[in-house]
Amino acid sequence: MTAEPLVFGPDFRWGVSTSAYQIEGAVAEGGRGPSTWDTFCAEPGRILNGDTGDVACDHYHRYADDVALMADLGVDTYRFSFSWPRVQPSGQGPANPAGLDFYDRLIDSLLAAGIQPAPTLFHWDTPQALEDAGGWLSRDITSRFADYASILADRFADRVALWMTINEPMVITLMGYSLGAHAPGKKLLFDALPVAHHQLLAHGRAVQALRAGGASTIGIASNHAPTWPASDSAEDVAAAGFYDALVNWLFADPVLLGRYPTEDLAAAMPGPVAEDLEIISTPLDFFGLNHYAPIRVGAPTGSPDTSATDGFTMPAGLPFEPRELDDYPKTDFGWPVVPAAFGEILRTFKDRYGDRLPPIYITENGCAINDGPVDGVVADQRRIDYLDSYLRVLKQAIDDGVDVRGYFQWSLLDNFEWSVGYSQRFGLVHVDFETQARTPKASYHWYRDLIAKSRG
Ligand code: NOJ
Repeated sequence: MTAEPLVFGPDFRWGVSTSAYQIEGAVAEGGRGPSTWDTFCAEPGRILNGDTGDVACDHYHRYADDVALMADLGVDTYRFSFSWPRVQPSGQGPANPAGLDFYDRLIDSLLAAGIQPAPTLFHWDTPQALEDAGGWLSRDITSRFADYASILADRFADRVALWMTINEPMVITLMGYSLGAHAPGKKLLFDALPVAHHQLLAHGRAVQALRAGGASTIGIASNHAPTWPASDSAEDVAAAGFYDALVNWLFADPVLLGRYPTEDLAAAMPGPVAEDLEIISTPLDFFGLNHYAPIRVGAPTGSPDTSATDGFTMPAGLPFEPRELDDYPKTDFGWPVVPAAFGEILRTFKDRYGDRLPPIYITENGCAINDGPVDGVVADQRRIDYLDSYLRVLKQAIDDGVDVRGYFQWSLLDNFEWSVGYSQRFGLVHVDFETQARTPKASYHWYRDLIAKSRG
């Protein structure tokens, strides 16, 4: 049986996503300042195999080759991130001309290839000087971020199609400041909540600064997934509900509704919260949603399941515990493959936010499948199967009335996957990190065909 071709129509945007620290390398070139990820990677034991982003995919030097790969792929839009410490080495003060020049070159070559640039302002690489001054725990960073947004709008608003402010503010809060598995490696547990508020406020202030600088079509890139209780017991349902509020609604409700999901969470936030929420909920042109896999959560048992958290042990004493979804197939990273959960989170957004929900772009979706080249061919059929099944669910959600305008696959290239270094490969293009050779995988050819046919 041949499956129906996936047709999303001529106006649907097709793209791929990357981020600066994960692909650029050249961390000490062109006047770039240090970021928290440079510092974190240099600390022994932080990153699997001692990997760092020092070279990564060497995209800083090879961007023209990578743009050519995208042109052959047929994507119309490319989501990348500006490196804050490349643009402003210490996170404040005048812009670094060489940093802006690099993004000029990238943006102009994209446009010359018929690809629209869709940059994210911040994908986790905080300038180290700002971290030393308190980082995302300090309200001052929201002023710095607004200045940074103005610099970018002044320089690039004439050429950028879609803007995203912050990537996955939940992950910085949870992994960076609460649990310490990402930079800056702080283990503050619930004392990390101000990090969420300051990122949200920085987002709102950046939306206003971008608009003032002439930018149009502005959103965020926030990760969301259904949170399923481990059982029907009242304890598991309550634990999952609390976790759901923390990882989903804490980040989306302030942006889309102008309020925190619970009184307790609002009370944990610093600053004039009501006034800040006015800024945080500045209307957006779109909501960028990253989705990978659902989460299962139960009440604490005292023996946390590390397989549910990529091998990372959650500290004891929390009022919830992630549980493995062992009843589903897994990617090579161990993440469950559950296409239906993608449809569920999209419908939940439509139901929860109604008229307050702007059009959605899927700003990330993809999987780690670690197949390498055999005789020059990377036969990553499992990635094709994953993408096909998730895109079929996306099409169904659109047919059911969810307004989704585009899809950005994560990622164009195998790249630096944060705390697990180069061990997990999310790319449509294989990268040999010894030689920097790029080999388009079977999934790249599949995605190219899909895009061509989908335009109808
Ligand atoms: C989320 C992040 O935005 C991106 O940096 C990461 O590589 C992918 N998802 C895969 O984990």
